Amino acid sequence: MRRKLIAGNWKMNTNINSANELVSSIIEKIEGREPKSELLVCPPFTNLSSVNELIKDKNISLGAQNCEYRDSGAYTGEVSVEMLISVGCKYVIIGHSERRQYYGDTDEIINLKIKQVLKHNLTPIFCIGETIEDRNSGNTFKVLENQIRKAYQDIDKNDLSKIVIAYEPVWAIGTGVSATTEQASEAHTWIRNFLNENYGKESSNIRILYGGSMNEKNSFDLLSCPDIDGGLIGGAALKLESFISILNNAETTYKN
Ligand code: PGA
Repeated sequence: MRRKLIAGNWKMNTNINSANELVSSIIEKIEGREPKSELLVCPPFTNLSSVNELIKDKNISLGAQNCEYRDSGAYTGEVSVEMLISVGCKYVIIGHSERRQYYGDTDEIINLKIKQVLKHNLTPIFCIGETIEDRNSGNTFKVLENQIRKAYQDIDKNDLSKIVIAYEPVWAIGTGVSATTEQASEAHTWIRNFLNENYGKESSNIRILYGGSMNEKNSFDLLSCPDIDGGLIGGAALKLESFISILNNAETTYKN
């Protein structure tokens, strides 16, 4: 069984005080529980170290929102995977649509970043998703296929199953308009079948998260879909009660 992953992508929100406060409140809420799902927070770079101190031994993992694909050197402003390891990161979000849209993260760069993360034994959360134009012109699956094929270029088959995929339709991110359960389920099943057909049996272990306006209301239905293995949550991850409700919904959707 694939363990669900409930991941908070805090984006460019929180400062050191509010980040510590938010994560301390999450810890309080889950105190004494052993969630079946894995809980992950991805604060901004500047708050990784302090959040890491707070979550040690607390059933919460730490992730970054981006990384540089080179090891080290004269790359002003960049953060290497080794640096992320030194502050306790286990995951790195790669290819988020905001990075693709605003910071020039092309499929080729995304491929290099995924390789770099895997080289250091961290887990990439690789984001894919279609725009509304893609969807309206019937190109959703073509776009997803292209994003996956290019990102997986020259990656060893054994490593592919270590990658977590986040399906995030661009039109659903930060808009309050989530994909319907049917739309999300259809895309996840398509991705699962595509992986099985093209990358072999090992890919059945790959976790596929849904992202895009997941919240306390829609998460139960979304997380009940057999091919949705968790969520990458933006806005609702900054609200304590919403984030905990999503975690609770993940817990109740496990089937025995
Ligand atoms: P959202 O963001 O939940 O605010 O739509 C999700 C994401 O961008 O990962």
